[in-house]
Amino acid sequence: MLAGPLTSTEFRRALGHFATGVTVVTVERDAGFVHGMTANSFASVSLDPPLVSVCVDHRARLLPLLKEKQRFGVNVLRREQQAFSEFFARIEQDGDTQERLGVKFLWTDQKIPLLENVLCQLSCKLSGLHAAGDHSIVIAEVENAKFFDGEPLLFYRGQYHCISEKP
Ligand SMILES: Cc1cc2nc3c(=O)[nH]c(=O)nc-3n(C[C@H](O)[C@H](O)[C@H](O)COP(=O)(O)O)c2cc1C
Repeated sequence: MLAGPLTSTEFRRALGHFATGVTVVTVERDAGFVHGMTANSFASVSLDPPLVSVCVDHRARLLPLLKEKQRFGVNVLRREQQAFSEFFARIEQDGDTQERLGVKFLWTDQKIPLLENVLCQLSCKLSGLHAAGDHSIVIAEVENAKFFDGEPLLFYRGQYHCISEKP
């Protein structure tokens, strides 16, 4: 146990002990253009109706886009896609790097951009927004889901990992 009041560094370190997958939330920015944001705060919320949540920093460019467009994608990354996670956590998302990394999108009828070749694609509709500290809890209804064979990219104690067999 740590003595004294919890500092933000300690809080982050403590929470880093909770292993997660890695998602990229994708939304249309301008006609035909995509803004993506790496997020590991993704969670399932309800089965009926099917709801998920993701916590988004109030300063993130993603937040106003979600409010405006209402529909967006959540893409669960494969173990081979650490570079995608790093790319969509960057301030600059330039087309050249995107092409070099092999980032490709497909578009649903509802104008949701989804990442191709990921482990799971969720088509979501905004259902609620709740301010919580310096983040907003985004609740969304999942309207469509596709999933594929493969292994997930994991995030644990600030580093990327992949599943290994139990001894
Ligand atoms: C593995 C990983 C997980 C992240 N998870 C979240 C998250 O759940 N919520 C969040 O607001 N930012 C998260 N971030 C940070 C954002 O991806 C990053 O700050 C992004 O540039 C901000 O979004 P914007 O591009 O829409 O401004 C994460 C970054 C990484 C590398």
